[in-house]
Amino acid sequence: WNIMKYLGITSAFILLFAFSTYTLIAQKAATDLRCEYLQNPIGIGVEQPRLSWMIPSEPEKKNIKQSAYQIQVASSIDNLEKSKRLIWDSERVNSEQSTHVTYPGELTARTRYYWRVRTWDQDNQESPWSEPAYWEMGLLHAGNWSADWIKPGHSEDPKIANPAPLMRKEFTLDRNIAKARLYVTSHGLYHAEINGEEVTEDLFTPGWTSFAKRLQYQTYDVTALLQRGDNAIGISLGDGWYRGKFGFSSGWNLYGEELALLAQLEVEYTNGKKEVIGSDATWKSSTGPIRMTGIYDGEVYDARMERPGWSKVGYDTGDWSTVKTTDISKEKLIEPRGVPVRKKEILEPKKIFTTPAGEMVVDMGQNMVGWVEITFDGNAGDTVSIYHAEVLDKDGNFYTENLREAEQRMQYILKGDGPQTFAPQFTFQGFQFIKLEGLDALPDPSSIKGVAVYSDMEQTGTFECGVPLLNQLQSNIQWGQRGNFLDVPTDCPQRDERMGWTGDAQAFAPTACYNFHTAAFYTKWLGDVAVDQKDNGAIPFVVPNVLGDNAVGSTGWGDVATILPWTMYLKYGDVRILEEQFETMSGWVDFLDNLAGENHLVQDGFHFGDWLFFIHPTEWNAKPGYSDVDFLATAFFGYSTHLVVEASKVLGKSSETAKYQSLLTEIKSAFQEEFVTKKGRLSPHSQTAYTLALAFDLLKEDQQENAVRYLVKNIESRDFHLSTGFLGTPHLCRVLSDRGYTDVAYKLLLQESYPSWLYPVTRGATTIWERWDGIKPDGSFQTTAMNSFNHYAYGAIGDWMYSVTTGIQDDPKNPGYKHIFLRPHPSKELQYANASHKSLYGTIHSSWKIEGDQVTFNFVVPPNTTAVIEIPQNGINPAQGVDRYEVGSGSYTYEIAVQ
Ligand code: BGC
Repeated sequence: WNIMKYLGITSAFILLFAFSTYTLIAQKAATDLRCEYLQNPIGIGVEQPRLSWMIPSEPEKKNIKQSAYQIQVASSIDNLEKSKRLIWDSERVNSEQSTHVTYPGELTARTRYYWRVRTWDQDNQESPWSEPAYWEMGLLHAGNWSADWIKPGHSEDPKIANPAPLMRKEFTLDRNIAKARLYVTSHGLYHAEINGEEVTEDLFTPGWTSFAKRLQYQTYDVTALLQRGDNAIGISLGDGWYRGKFGFSSGWNLYGEELALLAQLEVEYTNGKKEVIGSDATWKSSTGPIRMTGIYDGEVYDARMERPGWSKVGYDTGDWSTVKTTDISKEKLIEPRGVPVRKKEILEPKKIFTTPAGEMVVDMGQNMVGWVEITFDGNAGDTVSIYHAEVLDKDGNFYTENLREAEQRMQYILKGDGPQTFAPQFTFQGFQFIKLEGLDALPDPSSIKGVAVYSDMEQTGTFECGVPLLNQLQSNIQWGQRGNFLDVPTDCPQRDERMGWTGDAQAFAPTACYNFHTAAFYTKWLGDVAVDQKDNGAIPFVVPNVLGDNAVGSTGWGDVATILPWTMYLKYGDVRILEEQFETMSGWVDFLDNLAGENHLVQDGFHFGDWLFFIHPTEWNAKPGYSDVDFLATAFFGYSTHLVVEASKVLGKSSETAKYQSLLTEIKSAFQEEFVTKKGRLSPHSQTAYTLALAFDLLKEDQQENAVRYLVKNIESRDFHLSTGFLGTPHLCRVLSDRGYTDVAYKLLLQESYPSWLYPVTRGATTIWERWDGIKPDGSFQTTAMNSFNHYAYGAIGDWMYSVTTGIQDDPKNPGYKHIFLRPHPSKELQYANASHKSLYGTIHSSWKIEGDQVTFNFVVPPNTTAVIEIPQNGINPAQGVDRYEVGSGSYTYEIAVQ
């Protein structure tokens, strides 16, 4: 028998008393005010930005809902607080909407808009006004740029890595300053200083976009850095993605041979007068201590060539050149929609030791992305080199062969007047270990700090359970995301790739959205997916496309065009991203439609297939993991078409719905005729084939049961090992649990022997490996040609851990977690699981714990949302029946006897 004990019953009377006093108290003021997902952004360009807020949760209260809101917008905090001269007053709007409320008016360049919101709750109780927040518009139009593009005046050799140029200017501000903004961008990376102070903590600016078509510029509030009187600005440039060694052929000058700078400092005096100091022909250029810098190769820094005070007033530019102006279009300039890269974490060395080969090595304890900050002492001219590696070989020696052409090396040349701390400026490396050359003795641990850098996304997900290896897997997934979310979603951060591989991105996106607040990050990147789409609708293998016009059109990769916007719609309720991307989404499907032609099977073109699926050297013929590429291509064609149908429904595009729905019907019947027997056996007979046919709903009703059985049999015949690659893996466990085989999914998840998710963890992995067998059971490595130890694609299992183990699921009919499904699938092996996800409405919690013959479930549903909680009637297995509870916000506990 079942006992369902709704905890709180015993305290119901006390609560009832408390509740009646509470209802008299107003709803709490809204918090977490965001504009276009960002807190107080400056320099945005979205014409009609969307505003969101959260209703604070109150643990004692249930069913908190917003019934109405009012937004006010003003040009100053003072006006806002006095409700005076409002630019916009929404008045009271009866609506539950607390996310993506569109600002309806016209906005002016360079202007800051202060806003606040108040809400009414389910009992019509009014909240106080929120704390004010703001957003500020950027320059918006090319015509608002008066500065000139400039390039260094000194000569460079475009065939080699050149020293990083410095550019500077002194100027006088003759009145008291009320406000100042620096608008700045570059070809190459820039680092800006004013009067010797860094302008920003942002790194790798202006970021990586498809530079020929879109180049971001940033806006900084530099009021506090300027003074009445003389001032100086200095900006250094690095090769970065623009012209450094980059891309498959490790070529140079991908986007151009010359670095360039565009900077516009706009100052407003207290008397209202304005002044603009722009980059122009009066600036000077030279080079400094960074003698070479490259994304793959690292940096060479010669401290003897430092130019102390170069961004301060009074510096002698006697030996500097005068810059040249250059003609670069300002039409391609855009305001950022993403988040900047920042220093996010500092790690201490775990161990410093000498390897059997006699190398001086530091183990940072974590495969990370960024650099080490290191302090040395020595004589002028002494050189210390730092090499970076992800792993040691089986003898315990430093291993860099998997880095291919990437040198991952810093070289510091001392100037010899006491200890100095070094860190690179324009490069990042992927590593757990560093090797030091040029030191006499092992360094002191306090002289080394690991600096992890990544896009500044808030962590929104946690997952923990009773199996330590799984907890390490979760940590590996999250670290894989940190290291590969460096302005664009990359495949890996260490070897000579580090590119925006679209297939990896689509595979990992749902997991990524649980772990971190990725909405702004992905919005930015989808802009590049759209502009890099070919006229015939083909999507490149990598975005920004640095591999050329022919590196386009692979299914499973190009499908990022449909999968990612749809994922963002589900996770963030973002309708606008569907609007903005719809042409790209349908363009991709049209491309596949043309490729397939009359018979609706994609049998043409190049496709990567189920990349890196498991191949056993001796079992190849007996039990292949291989899936035919035309099967996979057609399956993704069907799936993307389905997503275009769904998106067109959300957008009310009825003629598109009809068009793509009938295409989908044709694809399904072609698929069934070609690849499926009457009873649901597939050719190819692989795990990935069954997984995708079921996940993408390509089978007839009466074929599905058999197909699931074939999948399970295949897994059993491999003694509960998977054989899937990049395409099948993200969907494998979901298909099993959806069809009542959660037990099989858990066996795969908990499998420790290779191939499995936990095998790398047993080998000490701290990030997700590119291959199931990056390090083989005998300790040897997979091919040096492709063996990254920080590739997030297989981390896609994270989605299943959140959404099945703890059962936190979105509802496509009410996306963005406005309505939530809580459908946990407990497992005795895990003993307990505890997950949280901070949605746009607040934090969702789900946990369960098995103690003796009882399972206790705990949930928290955030304010202004509702949820359906499904509790397995036998405590463990939802497939045997569930009890459903429709609930509003609040905390819920259920205790169930395990049967
Ligand atoms: C990358 C990938 C990518 C693949 C294409 C590799 O070199 O690292 O992760 O998706 O190529 O199949």
